[in-house]
Amino acid sequence: MATTAKPLRIDIPVANDERKFPQGFFWGVATSSYQVEGAWNEDVKGLSIWDTYTHKPGNIKNNDNGDVANDHYHRYKEDVALMKNDLGANAYRFSIAWPRIFPNGTGEPNAKGLDFYNRLVDELKAAGIEPFATLYHWDLPQTLQDKGGWQNRDIAKAFADYSGYMAEKLGDRVKYFFTINEFRSFVEGGYQGLNVQVGGGKIVHLGGAPGLQLSNGELNQVRHNAVLGHGLAVQAIRSRGSADAKVGFAENMLIAVPVIETPEYVKAAEKATRELNADFITVLLEGRYTDAYLKKTGKDAPKFTDDDLKIIASPLDFVGINVYKPNIYVEPSNDAQGYRSVPINASHPKMQASWHVFDPECIYWAPHHVRSLWGAKSIFITENGCSASDVVSPDGRVYDSDRVMFLRAYLTQLQRATADGVPVKGYFLWSAQDNFEWSDGYSNRFGIVYIDFKTQKRIPKLSASFFRETVRRNAVA
Ligand code: FCB
Repeated sequence: MATTAKPLRIDIPVANDERKFPQGFFWGVATSSYQVEGAWNEDVKGLSIWDTYTHKPGNIKNNDNGDVANDHYHRYKEDVALMKNDLGANAYRFSIAWPRIFPNGTGEPNAKGLDFYNRLVDELKAAGIEPFATLYHWDLPQTLQDKGGWQNRDIAKAFADYSGYMAEKLGDRVKYFFTINEFRSFVEGGYQGLNVQVGGGKIVHLGGAPGLQLSNGELNQVRHNAVLGHGLAVQAIRSRGSADAKVGFAENMLIAVPVIETPEYVKAAEKATRELNADFITVLLEGRYTDAYLKKTGKDAPKFTDDDLKIIASPLDFVGINVYKPNIYVEPSNDAQGYRSVPINASHPKMQASWHVFDPECIYWAPHHVRSLWGAKSIFITENGCSASDVVSPDGRVYDSDRVMFLRAYLTQLQRATADGVPVKGYFLWSAQDNFEWSDGYSNRFGIVYIDFKTQKRIPKLSASFFRETVRRNAVA
């Protein structure tokens, strides 16, 4: 029998080209004002609740604070250059410190505070990086906290005035605005304490400024005032910003993952996601509190009017979701609820942060649910990333192999969503740099650029190369 000679080497196509993202995809990195800026009392800035909270011993690991942080307030030029050259990012999501603009929360604006964001935005535009501004990433002016903070309904109006002012001042260059970052985190973390299930029945308790412990009824009212503040801010941005301003929120939606990918399980996961988020995303996008939410909260339900609901659901241009972890695993059930939550196993894999349950599927399902439940036409992943035990090696480099693993796994699932037609328009990696990680202080490094907090030296990590290559190919690298 004649044999045909077989080549010894088999050419396996490189998979990367097959994992492409849509054209025009935004590849961004994200930070927030309190976590990176420092300059806590410069240029007439007012105190924020995070200044007050971190200056009280015992609130933060190692009693760290954001007084200096990454000194980004003074080093923003170097940081923008890093984003452009070392990360290859084409978008940057930053937040504005409200007390820099209105040191007392309302009243006279502070020209020096505004000037910083003008300079930052100009620097970004010159580098070809699209600015995405978040108006509230938790650093409330202390003077407003002294008037009750988000417990006081008037704060919603003050937030709208400040948001409208920023849209007016930056609107010629900033086209994308996020009102509020993570309603759930700052409301629950700051006003009662946030409990996160991490597997095996274990619960991680997270706190934050202003460090209050309200009753459930009071907390539900804070939730309501926050979504109302968002709605009023959307209207203020529309009326005072430029005509082509685009606005949405950035919420850490609670994500239900179907245990098995059949239509029944997926339906059950959608039902669960809608109910789990009844207090934030659901009311923001539907303009109503679900019956189950009102029943569950009973006498503790928030007080609201029909007019409030209309404001809260002011039409948006996109939905922003921060995606880190699955919240529950779900299977269908025959009861009225229609789903059953499956416990997360004690041995379930985790990333370094205490709360960080690992499952790349959640970044497939989160935007998928947003589209199928609420018909969103434009979705941004406003945060995704992980912390790792990064150290500088003797050769001067930082080898965060676990972060590269994490990013590749999550981006593969995100690419799967876009390939299915889920309208995800961009992805922001948390974070552009290591920074002040709230109650964990500087002990939890989320950056793809390492910061030596003693010298302020910046060192791009292995994951920075991975990210840069992903952006270059517009495909999972
Ligand atoms: C999110 C916050 C962000 C950062 C990451 C790790 O909840 O929005 O500021 O702390 O977690």
